[in-house]
Amino acid sequence: MNDDSSSAVVASRIEGLIQSMPPGSRLPSYRELQQRYRLSPATVQRMLADLSRRGLLVTRPGSGTYTAPRRPSAAAADVSWQTLALGARTGLSPDLERLLEVTAPDALPLNSGFLDERLQPLGLLAAAGARAVRRPQAWNRLPPQGLPELRAHFAAETAGTMAGQNVLITPGGQAALSAVFRHLCAPGDPVILESPTYVGAIAVARAAGLTLVPVPGDRDGIQPDVLEDALARTGARLVYLQPRYSNPAGAVLAPARRDAVLEAVARHGAFVLEDDWMRDFYLGLPSPPPMASMDDDGHVIYLRSLSKPVAPGMRVAGLAARGPVLARLRRGRISDDLFVTPVLQQIALDVLTAPGWVRHLGSVRRALRERRDALAAAIGAMLPGCELAAIPAGGVHLWLRLPDRLSDVEVADAAAARGVAVSQGRMSFPSEPPGQYLRLSYSAAEPPALVSAVQILADILAAEPG
Ligand SMILES: Cc1ncc(COP(=O)(O)O)c(C=O)c1O
Repeated sequence: MNDDSSSAVVASRIEGLIQSMPPGSRLPSYRELQQRYRLSPATVQRMLADLSRRGLLVTRPGSGTYTAPRRPSAAAADVSWQTLALGARTGLSPDLERLLEVTAPDALPLNSGFLDERLQPLGLLAAAGARAVRRPQAWNRLPPQGLPELRAHFAAETAGTMAGQNVLITPGGQAALSAVFRHLCAPGDPVILESPTYVGAIAVARAAGLTLVPVPGDRDGIQPDVLEDALARTGARLVYLQPRYSNPAGAVLAPARRDAVLEAVARHGAFVLEDDWMRDFYLGLPSPPPMASMDDDGHVIYLRSLSKPVAPGMRVAGLAARGPVLARLRRGRISDDLFVTPVLQQIALDVLTAPGWVRHLGSVRRALRERRDALAAAIGAMLPGCELAAIPAGGVHLWLRLPDRLSDVEVADAAAARGVAVSQGRMSFPSEPPGQYLRLSYSAAEPPALVSAVQILADILAAEPG
């Protein structure tokens, strides 16, 4: 018998025979098995060797082949010892995990800030990927800071104040946030976050054991006078901001506030971590250049990631800093994970410098503008009593205030039960939320789906006792 599929059938019959025999039973002889299943001696030998490797048989030299003793089933395992080993560390919340949950294929995804496949530059990625893996150096080491040309490209984007040597390549923005929070602060240190803010920044700060100091923002970004107070009161040395189309509220830090923020951090000897996550997605006129371009004395650490403008799997970001903090971050990053896969860095560089890149950004902006407008219009028409803080001039989220009588958790749960995924606003607040909000994202759904989602939200809200 030399046909693969029939020999697989026989192998599974022999395995069934073994499973049906009590542990320690003697197997029929080789000759008997050959005759019973019409196998060649070599095939019997191969099959039994395979079953032995998998731990189902044991051979006792001079005696024969026996069914192996059975291990107790995994269900009976006692892992309660881990309770003591792990202790009661509370830093890790499930919020970020929830945000990354893959939505059911037929759900309407208004909970993801990533572009869906229709908007990803798949052609550019395929071509760059094919070229990158053929390069002779593809799998060699790079300097741990990253591919020099990619570092130079990121540096040029900060409006000229950073050079390539100031940039470290990290495996995505999240890893960069984690590196900055952990390597610049010690557990217990205060870190200032604009509130509301990116749920992943809250998660990283908590995981690093830092003390979160929320400072309220409004549609013009963080409030500089409150920031000044918080710096003076807590002695914080790190302020995390997204000055451009903040996640979740879509705020842009107003030009006058940028100076005030930089003056405040300079007075208090602190750093700003500028997370420029939405630098590519202005949907009207371009927003102001990064704060890093206004900083002469190394107060701004600048972060720009590619997972939003390219695709979620493009886990590459540039983290730029000046002065001794750069050496601290470089060493910290090496201790975290040595360096980022060179092939991915090469693909990132090829995509960013391809002639089609600018065209890609243009068509994504057009699509996002249509999606944002369709979502905002549907909200205006169908959700009376709810309020949009603003219609942001860029980004991928709308920040919807619900009437106070409603709970964001209950509305989000009811929406999920009806196939609409939205994010609970409370996840974006480092402390108690001052109101009930939903974050509605338009990067992964087209206008008709967005309108259907709002219709379902309208039904849910109408059914709530008022
Ligand atoms: C504001 C902000 N910063 C950073 C990140 C993380 O980016 P990355 O996917 O590159 O890790 C996200 C992801 O959603 C984000 O919204």
